[in-house]
Amino acid sequence: MEDIEKSKKPIAVIDSGLGGLSVLKVLMRELPNENYIYFGDSANAPYGEKSGDEVKRITDENIGMLSEGGAKAVVIACNTATSAAAEYVREKYADIPIIGMEPAVKPAAMMAEHPKVVVMATPLTLMREKFLRLIEKYSDKAEFVTVPCHGLVELVERGVVEGEEMDECLCRILSPYTDGSDVDAVVLGCTHYVHAANAINKALGGNVQIFDGVLGTVREVERRLAAAGILNNGGEQGELTICNSSDDEDFIKRSHMLLNL
Ligand code: DGL
Repeated sequence: MEDIEKSKKPIAVIDSGLGGLSVLKVLMRELPNENYIYFGDSANAPYGEKSGDEVKRITDENIGMLSEGGAKAVVIACNTATSAAAEYVREKYADIPIIGMEPAVKPAAMMAEHPKVVVMATPLTLMREKFLRLIEKYSDKAEFVTVPCHGLVELVERGVVEGEEMDECLCRILSPYTDGSDVDAVVLGCTHYVHAANAINKALGGNVQIFDGVLGTVREVERRLAAAGILNNGGEQGELTICNSSDDEDFIKRSHMLLNL
């Protein structure tokens, strides 16, 4: 049964900072009637260098605050927070749909006959049991090279997604792993990296196929809202509120810039 009143409540989209804007952008394009509240936790970024317990605690607090504030659903637009906290928060906030991210390892592994796939993600994501199981599952289908990307999130948080500084950072991160052999695909296992997809493609030779899992998550949001009878089909353009845990106002400016608003 549809709940029209509830369907008008916002979808909360959360991330450690500006990364989840790459998911929000596609959500706004695909589900334009929805109202959104984006919460970037830049005061606590990067999550990927913290412990799993800490990321779980922070994610729990943020979701608690947003669900009390009236969000009808939460999108954890962060691979790191999903891997550290999704199971726990889904049980704790069982009355609202909570949708997370998963590195797009499966479609990358299936893109060709035994492709070479570089998986870029935060150190915490790569060390979680959930990720190791995922890689293990497709290990006979592809050659995986997993790359913890220290420093990349910090650049994106500063609004740097291309140019010399980004190219230098990517060269430092990626050159030890490509060792002259051709890479077929890259999995962007962190939503921050999606903003730098062009620079990453260039750093890997300019001809790799990029998998980011964003559209998969957006489709899942649509499915879950429809199943709960709270998809907003109101016909009007939805509203967007952007919040950030940092006192630095520039994060809001950079958020608009990354959304091309
Ligand atoms: N954007 C996040 C992700 O998708 C995490 C970045 C971080 O704070 O380390 O993993």
